[in-house]
Amino acid sequence: MTADPPVRLAQPADAGDIAAMSRDLIERGLPWTWRRDRVLAAIRDPDTNVAVIRVDGALVAFGIMEYLEADAYLSLLAVRGTSQRSGFGRSLLRWLEASARVAGARRIRLEARRDNVPARTFYNELGYHEVAIRHGRYSDGVDGVLLEKWLRTSPAP
Ligand SMILES: CC(C)(COP(=O)(O)OP(=O)(O)OC[C@H]1O[C@@H](n2cnc3c(N)ncnc32)[C@H](O)[C@@H]1OP(=O)(O)O)[C@@H](O)C(=O)NCCC(=O)NCCS
Repeated sequence: MTADPPVRLAQPADAGDIAAMSRDLIERGLPWTWRRDRVLAAIRDPDTNVAVIRVDGALVAFGIMEYLEADAYLSLLAVRGTSQRSGFGRSLLRWLEASARVAGARRIRLEARRDNVPARTFYNELGYHEVAIRHGRYSDGVDGVLLEKWLRTSPAP
């Protein structure tokens, strides 16, 4: 990739595509919990950033980050299959991290499935450390891995 792709905040019209991508890429084989209405509520929530990348009108990537007091929590991040390993995930996560810094977050946390080696490698590559295993975290019995990245150690200004 030669230039950073345009990341922007999601609009209500993005909710359906985001929900479908979550169903197909993140919640595949699990109960579908991030349906359109939930995504819409996240887009409208002032304590949540929903960011998207669209190319030629098609949704390529999205991420959802919630701000919980001093921490930010990355709820979802996905890049469509045909566009993976092209830098979209990195660009989107960096954009969300920059937003979290501006919001005063001291740390970003997230959880990945233990069997999702590509995602764990991706987050490790971007500076996230694996800090805990949550046994049987997912409804199909797979463990969760808690990851975090510190953005600052000093108190918020
Ligand atoms: C995980 C995911 C978001 C990564 O997005 P991406 O756009 O493909 O990642 P990038 O191209 O920005 O990769 C950045 C770096 O992460 C690492 N990485 C990404 N995907 C990887 C893979 N499949 N295997 C090994 N390393 C990988 C590499 O170091 C890569 O740099 P490189 O391509 O220069 O070697 C994407 O694979 C995805 O959407 N997966 C399905 C949904 C999912 O699992 N989401 C996370 C839920 S916690």
